Order: sequence, then structure tokens, then C-alpha cells
Amino acid sequence: MNPNPGDFAASAPSPDDTIVVRGNGPLAGTVAVPGAKNSVLKLMAATLLTDGTFEITNVPDIADVGIMGDLLEAIGVRIDRPTRDRLLLTDTGDLTPVAPYELVERIRASINVLGPLLTRCGHIRLSMPGGDDFGARPIDMHIAGLEAMGASFKFSHGYLEATADRLHGADITFDFPSVGATENLLTAAVLAEGTTTIDNAAREPEISDLCDFLVAMGARISGGGTSTLVVEGVEPGDLRPVQHHTVPDRIQAATYVAAVAVAGGELLIEGARPDQMTMLLERFGDMGLDITPVTDRHGSRLRVCAPDRLRSIDVATLPYPGIATDYKPLIITMLSVADGVGIVTENLYPGRFRYVEELQRLGADIRTSGHHAVVRGVPRLSGAPVKAHDIRAGAAMVVAGLAAEGSTEIAGVHHIDRGYDDLVGRLAAVGASIERAGERTVI
Ligand code: EPU
Repeated sequence: MNPNPGDFAASAPSPDDTIVVRGNGPLAGTVAVPGAKNSVLKLMAATLLTDGTFEITNVPDIADVGIMGDLLEAIGVRIDRPTRDRLLLTDTGDLTPVAPYELVERIRASINVLGPLLTRCGHIRLSMPGGDDFGARPIDMHIAGLEAMGASFKFSHGYLEATADRLHGADITFDFPSVGATENLLTAAVLAEGTTTIDNAAREPEISDLCDFLVAMGARISGGGTSTLVVEGVEPGDLRPVQHHTVPDRIQAATYVAAVAVAGGELLIEGARPDQMTMLLERFGDMGLDITPVTDRHGSRLRVCAPDRLRSIDVATLPYPGIATDYKPLIITMLSVADGVGIVTENLYPGRFRYVEELQRLGADIRTSGHHAVVRGVPRLSGAPVKAHDIRAGAAMVVAGLAAEGSTEIAGVHHIDRGYDDLVGRLAAVGASIERAGERTVI
């Protein structure tokens, strides 16, 4: 096993690093959006379904890719990274289906090895994935679905042990369209005997990307991108390794929209897929942003022009195609400096409001009650030391810093590194006053 988890990431940042942002006016220029974290990690896990060398491109340069790489290496996959945005994953068939604690506890997506390893090897030992700073994240739907397909589970000493001679097809209806459970059952069903139907499946673009990847490998899946997925199991020999270009990261794209929204100016966001952000872009339009999707032979882009001041709106998070919970810290930050009062309702993770106290430190007027936040916009925030509690909350702190007078110093940058590919460099290139520094100096 690789002794240095995260070796595939660009650098080895210190956990004490901070980001210092100074609100210094409008942004201008072009930002390129890399591939999606929440797709590439699942594509990497899905390579466990068959032998051979896979090539994944448009790979974001983020810490989570390194951690997932280390987990796959521990299981027996060889990983090469000839360039930062390209991964070669070679599965020799000599796999140890064990996912150890020290890697599983670091990223939620490690749960995605469950489906492929169980269906391929007939057994797996997986350390139980932990919660997140925004609350418990159970896996009961993953387990119930795999049990319906013939798997048996045993839990002991912090490990989940699953066994199955050969999984069989089943008709599964989710209570809730869980992203991770959809992905695990989808990948497990690829080599199961017979047909599996997943109803009320998650429809996120990253799941469509996974379906495209699996179908190219030889899986028989219909309904990708809809709430009913039908998978006809194939034999191991029917699968082959593929080359695949990861879908762009809609959350990173939204982060740059939020940045220009609060800083002012105009950005061209390259690689963003407006068709995968429809509802969000409509709501951003309601806030006064002028957003023009451009799709031509060069790909798809978004031209975003900020108004003098944003208008407040009410927003509720929902599974795709609704407004993703991962956008919410950005939206609350935008509302913090918008004209009027906005009410934000969180429907996925009731505890996902911890960053609000950090925004309050910057002068935001926000009150939370249960899973609602009431945000009364102020003209400008005021720079202060704050902390990133998770990936998305961390990005929101950076955006808040752009809306603040003076200097905002953000600690907990390792959270941002998990999901953002050079956020600092990309924002600096379009005129933001932002830099990465060593350990915090101002408390
Ligand atoms: N849930 C259960 N039981 C389950 C599975 C989920 O109760 O067996 C609940 C969760 O507790 C949560 C809700 O269902 O309240 C949503 O969970 P889901 O399974 O859809 O989410 P996930 O697969 O754990 C992914 C992303 C998250 C993103 C959510 C929702 C990855 C690695 N993570 O998590 O992304 O917030 O979908 O869209 O894909 C992030 O990237 O920062 C991040 C947190």
C-alpha cells in the first residue's frame, strides 16, 4: 500500500495552510472547470469490475483522487498518472477486497468500492464510512439493496463484511434517490445474474457519466439519467477496460459563478455544462445575474455578468434536477450580500449549516432554525479569520472573502483541497486578490 495517501495530488499541502482573500473589486477573464470529483471517484471504483488498463481523462487535481487512488492500490490496482489530468488504472485481477479504516474514513466515496468488489469477488471487508461535519451519513439503503440481490452482511469490529456467491437481479425501489446507493447497486448489478431494476434512482449528471462508462465497458444498462435504471447482468468476460473523459464539475462551475456574483465583473467559465445546471442558473438569473450559455465546436461555456447588487431569493435544496445541497453554502454567501431577505431550506442534510457561524463572523446577518436559514443581505461583509468545515463550506468562505472589505484568512484549507483543483490560482488569474499562505498568523 502507498505509505503516503494523496500521492497522486499536485502537492503535499500542510494541514496548517491558510488562504488569504481581500475583496478588491471586479473579476474579469476566463476560468476553466475541471472534471467532477463526484464522478471521477466513482469511475475509479468502477474499474474494479474487470481486468485491464483504463484511461480516465479530465481528472481534477484534488486530494480525494489521491486518496481513492491509494485505496485502489491497497486493493490491488496499479495507478499511473502520466499527466495531472490523466489516470491509468491497471487491474490485474489479483485483488484483495479489503477497504481499510485509514483510507475509508478519509472519503465518503470509498463506499463505492462495495458494489464492484462484492459482485466481482463475492466478498468484501469494508471499514464503516464515517459521517461528515454536516452530520451522520448512513448506508442502510446500500445494504438493503444489496441484500435484496442476495448479499449477506455482518458487522464486527468496525468492519462491514459482505458475501454473495453470485448476486442476482432484484426490483429495488428507493425511499429517497440516494446518489451513493444508486451507484453501488448499479455497479453491483452489472455482473449480477438477471435483471435489476432501480426505481426512484438518483439522476445526477455524475450518475449518467457512470452509466456511460459502464455501458462502454459492455454493461447493459438502460434509463441512465432517469429515475428508473434497468440493468441486465452480463458475464465477466463481456466487460472490457475503456477510455473515458470525466464530466465537468458543476459545483466548481457554480463556485466561479458565485465568485463573480459577489465580486462583480464578468467571467467566461469554460467547460461548464449549462444543461446540467439548469435550475441553478434559472435561480441565479432571478438574483440578477446575466448568464449566457454558449455551446459551439469549442465546447460549452457560460458567460456570466454580475449586476450592481444581487437580489434575494428563496431556495430549497433537492436531489437533481433540483438545487443541489452542495451549492447551498455558495447561495447563502451570495444572499448574505444581496438586496432583501432570502430563506434557504435544506432538505438533504439538516445539520449542514455549520459554516453559517463563520459567515456571521464576517458580518453576515443569518438566522437558522431547524433546516431553514433566513438571510438578510448586508451591503458588504467585513474580513476576519474563519474556518473551512468541509469542502463546500470552505469554497463558500473564499467567495465570502471576495465580498468582504479587508482581509479574510481561511483555515482548514485541506478541506478545500479535497474537492477544488487550484481554486486560488484560478481566482487569482481572473483578478482576485488571493493567496495561499502558511499557518494562520491572525486569530
Ligand atoms: N441516506 C440514507 N441512507 C443511505 C444513503 C443516504 O439515509 O443509505 C441519506 C443521507 O444521510 C443524506 C441523503 O440520504 O441525508 C443523501 O445522501 P446520498 O446518498 O444521496 O449522498 P452521498 O452519495 O453520500 C453524494 C455526494 C455529496 C452530495 C450528496 C447529495 C459523493 C462522494 N458525495 O453523497 O457530495 O452532497 O451526494 O448530492 O458523491 C461533496 O462533494 O462535498 C459532497 C458532500
